[in-house]
Amino acid sequence: MTEATRQPMGWDASRAHTLDDPRREHEVPAASVIELLALGGGETVLDFGAGTGRLTVAVDGALDQGTVIALDNDPEMCSLLEPRLADRHAARTLFVEGGVVPLPDASVDRILCVDVLHHIGERELGEMHRLIRAGGHMVMIDWVRGASREQGPPDEKRLSAEGASEELEATGFSVANAGCRFANRYTLVARPLRRD
Ligand SMILES: C[S@@+](CC[C@H](N)C(=O)[O-])C[C@H]1O[C@@H](n2cnc3c(N)ncnc32)[C@H](O)[C@@H]1O
Repeated sequence: MTEATRQPMGWDASRAHTLDDPRREHEVPAASVIELLALGGGETVLDFGAGTGRLTVAVDGALDQGTVIALDNDPEMCSLLEPRLADRHAARTLFVEGGVVPLPDASVDRILCVDVLHHIGERELGEMHRLIRAGGHMVMIDWVRGASREQGPPDEKRLSAEGASEELEATGFSVANAGCRFANRYTLVARPLRRD
């Protein structure tokens, strides 16, 4: 890690209500995130660090044959996700303990990772790389370092777009910076490099 001798920040589940604050939909509209996922409708999508499932629900609405897996390592978040996703045809909740995701290698077509990178480190990035199929891609959106700090994590816990790209590249992704589409956040699209 580089910017990344950084210590990932713990998540405080008592802040769960903030994830459904209407300002988040204004700043990071679900429809724009769905566009970046470029779904055909039959994919397996992993919402890594799904929180209360705001974006999982939107992905569910964009799938007909596919599946969206709402993954979280916080039992309280999973207990919020389960009832919210119960009636969704394509969604399920996955609780992860100890950082190892109980899914096979190359088993997902898309990974969505929104406002999560500052909470995770090398081990989780390695799992993302293991899980994504060749030809798939990951959409990573997170708070940019040095931007307004009315909301979001402290500046020292954030990365720059360049720092985040370096971490993904070091994990084995090629990364395109999709620019500042969302308030105070960078957006990266990462594709796994060929595994030989
Ligand atoms: C700021 S919330 C973002 C939630 C959601 N992505 C959204 O945009 O609404 C961060 C979430 O990541 C989860 N998280 C943090 N570290 C994680 C880890 N190592 N593995 C899986 N989930 C994690 C937290 O429990 C929390 O639900």
